[in-house]
Amino acid sequence: MPIDFSTLPLRELRKGRGLAWDPHAIDLAKDREDWIALDPVSQVFLLRQVVGFLIGERGVTHDLAPLQQALRREKGRMEEEMYLTQQLYEESTHVEFFQRWMNEVLPGKLGTDIPFPPGQGRFFTEILPAAMNALAEDPSPEAQMRAAVTYHQIIEGVLAEIGYAIFYACLDKDGILPGLRQGIRFIQQDESRHIAFGTYLAQRLIHEHPELEAVFEREMEALREETVGSTDGFFSHCDDAEPFGLKQAPFRKLAEDLYRRRIRSVLRGGLVEA
Ligand SMILES: [Fe+2]
Ligand SMILES: [Fe+2]
Repeated sequence: MPIDFSTLPLRELRKGRGLAWDPHAIDLAKDREDWIALDPVSQVFLLRQVVGFLIGERGVTHDLAPLQQALRREKGRMEEEMYLTQQLYEESTHVEFFQRWMNEVLPGKLGTDIPFPPGQGRFFTEILPAAMNALAEDPSPEAQMRAAVTYHQIIEGVLAEIGYAIFYACLDKDGILPGLRQGIRFIQQDESRHIAFGTYLAQRLIHEHPELEAVFEREMEALREETVGSTDGFFSHCDDAEPFGLKQAPFRKLAEDLYRRRIRSVLRGGLVEA
């Protein structure tokens, strides 16, 4: 079977190729100056975001392959396998960016000269690996749906989007850390294609197995509280301090909005693209 260039996975793959970026080409000189000038509360708050993203990007890079293997076991999924190859490459790029930023901007080594910030949640230590590793034993469409909900809808579609909003809120007011800002923007662009693919996959699964609509709804509901409540963790160490003048409430509201938007996007019927 020739591959079909008109499918969403291959159209997104071409788009992604045109938008490829080099995580080593971003200028971080001003970031180093800006970081030193930040107050300690702001530094810990931002470091928590950066470390959270580094852990998250490592997690999604490490845990994506079982989905590709599950599709590989079926016949006729070449376009989706090809898209996931690009997604894996892009997730690797994101890991490189955050690691490089930490290596070159922080005035010392994390864990040695600079204490690790408080950890966040169990999405990358438990929830994501469990959903993805399950595919090795059970590559069924139902297990694929559980993986796609956790990976593409919850982690990429809600948690990461809250993270970008927090970054922009911290950085844009005073125009600080332009290298970090640039990398985050590139990553958000990549992630919007990943979410589009995940939405396509969930819709394709429902189209072929209508009973999986209930699985999609059940999985989303099972992760709702932890997803919407994830913003608690971002602010829990701040006590009364408001780093960058930020309060938690708008981000919790954003989490609720994003969560509902993901459900609407998948369930709006038919094989809807992006
Ligand atoms: Fe990523
Ligand atoms: Fe992604």
